[in-house]
Amino acid sequence: MKTRVLAYNNESILEAARLILAGEPVAVPTETVYGLAADATNAEGVTRIYEAKGRPSFNPLIVHVPDLESAERIGEFGEEARALAGRYWPGPLTLVVPLRENSGIASIVTAGLPTIGLRVPAHPAMQALLGATNRPLAAPSANASGSISPTRASHVLKSLAGRIPLIIDGGATERGIESTIVASTDGPLRLLRPGPIELVARWDLRETIEAPGQLASHYSPSKPLRLGAERSENDEFMIGFGAIEGDSNLSFSGSLVEAASRLFDLLHDADESTKARIAVAPVPEEGLGIAINDRLRRAAV
Ligand code: TXA
Ligand code: MG
Repeated sequence: MKTRVLAYNNESILEAARLILAGEPVAVPTETVYGLAADATNAEGVTRIYEAKGRPSFNPLIVHVPDLESAERIGEFGEEARALAGRYWPGPLTLVVPLRENSGIASIVTAGLPTIGLRVPAHPAMQALLGATNRPLAAPSANASGSISPTRASHVLKSLAGRIPLIIDGGATERGIESTIVASTDGPLRLLRPGPIELVARWDLRETIEAPGQLASHYSPSKPLRLGAERSENDEFMIGFGAIEGDSNLSFSGSLVEAASRLFDLLHDADESTKARIAVAPVPEEGLGIAINDRLRRAAV
């Protein structure tokens, strides 16, 4: 794949929107770092973010929306979350709030969690892309897994050349570090990631700041999970893969992109079934399969 770099203007944004609506991830500047954006309602599009980054595991991704009203259609905002949004949006603040049912957000975006990280970005290029796609956009930093976050189009190119179709060049980003993340779920606000907005400067978080990592960072089914299963026992709901059949199948054709995009939906289905346990067919430990197996192993403990 050849990676094009186009200067930020109306035309390049239309081209970026066309690619995103076709399920391809595109790199775009925000005020913090360059993001690798995909349609958050398209599971396979989002999976291609992981493929391009070569991420060995699925983390919940931040979803970008044009304004608070759009954010409230996806997440549930309490008084405190709304106050923070009112004060800092658009800007480098991400709010983790309960996910609404029927939000349309693909489950791979939240990695199966019942919460979602939402942000209204200030950068005109990201805002233009949100307008042109008319979709919520999931976007982690636009770098290969394990390398540092990109603050220029040239950084993105160095890291992801040949792996994504397009980079929108909007110059150097203003902030250079990723957004501050605050969780407003149940109970007091929690600072999950320090960032450009120094909420630690008191009034917002009052005395409720806790150590990061308090929030469950990955989804686990409530039932025992057996991995690498060639066939199921009687009391198991079997999640198949490729030729190994089951009650459901991650991908009949053996596609890892499809399997990754369906993983959390199928785990939820299995958890809700009448069977006492869950079995999952072997998934090859290569490419996206490494991330799939990582999530499965964590879900199994
Ligand atoms: O500045 C930024 O936030 C950049 C730009 C592109 O917007 N984006 C970014 O995304 O840093 P990402 O995917 O690298 O950061 C995602 C992090 C996760 O690792 C996790 O810590 C937190 O956001 N996160 C997202 N959703 C969450 C959730 N539902 N619960 C807990 N943490 C969540
Ligand atoms: Mg990152």
